[in-house]
Amino acid sequence: MSYETLLFEVADRVAVVTVNRPQKLNALNRKTIEELTDAFTRVRDDEGIAGAVLTGAGERAFVAGADIAEFRGLDAPTGMALARRGQALTTLMERCGKPVIAAIGGFALGGGCELALACTLRVAARTAKLGQPEINLGIIPGYGGSQRLARIIGEGRAMELILTGAMVPAEEALALGLVNRVVEAGQARSVAETWARELVTTKPPLALKAAIEAVHEGLSRSLDEGLALEARLFGTLCATEDMREGTAAFLEKRAPRFRGQ
Ligand code: COA
Repeated sequence: MSYETLLFEVADRVAVVTVNRPQKLNALNRKTIEELTDAFTRVRDDEGIAGAVLTGAGERAFVAGADIAEFRGLDAPTGMALARRGQALTTLMERCGKPVIAAIGGFALGGGCELALACTLRVAARTAKLGQPEINLGIIPGYGGSQRLARIIGEGRAMELILTGAMVPAEEALALGLVNRVVEAGQARSVAETWARELVTTKPPLALKAAIEAVHEGLSRSLDEGLALEARLFGTLCATEDMREGTAAFLEKRAPRFRGQ
């Protein structure tokens, strides 16, 4: 599939997906959601891709939200369908089984913040601003924000951001745990790419996949169910070549060579 609203590049087994509507601050219209769904299906299914970076074109925005122009004329069923399409995308990203890093160069608002929350890790430029301003439009986050924000930064902090619609600067987002790293303006994409490359070249892919699943799935289960999931995944990894290689390399004082088997 060729894309109208995205750029999709792969280098060194890392896909870089760029939302490319800079004149609209990369707002997510229906086409963009469809194309992102296709792009992350590719990230999940293509064995030549081991991880991804999601970013926005231009210096001003990662993604400034769902395209508000498309909200005109929505009613209850069409509004719910719009939320479901966005949720299906964010769930696909979260469950693609590979690390996905958000490179947030500017505004990550509404659906943009929700896309970032569905990534495995988040890198923000010092000049970036994040928030869930939907309350100011008479709605609430609809692409998973009310659920993932509270899981990532805690209920009290998520409640404050969602009720006030406040935009928080990158340093504050770092203190909240909303982003993992803050970097100089203009550096978010290169730092995220380097980080993704480092993960996919030095870490065992089956263990990366299992770690992501254990954390995400565990959080939506009871502690006992989460522990059962962890033990099952741990056991599965103990039967892999990569586990034998990792432990042998440690004992032989050399770097491991993981092959994803
Ligand atoms: N949907 C549709 N268009 C959007 C958009 C969105 N979420 N965010 C920005 N745009 C468009 C603007 O309408 C404008 O288009 P125009 O030049 O054709 O008029 C263009 O992007 C530039 O945005 P502008 O508002 O002029 O830039 P700014 O620097 O004054 O303000 C923001 C930047 C991010 C503060 C402001 O655009 C904003 O509040 N956007 C909406 C954020 C939001 O509520 N997101 C949640 C949606 S659910």
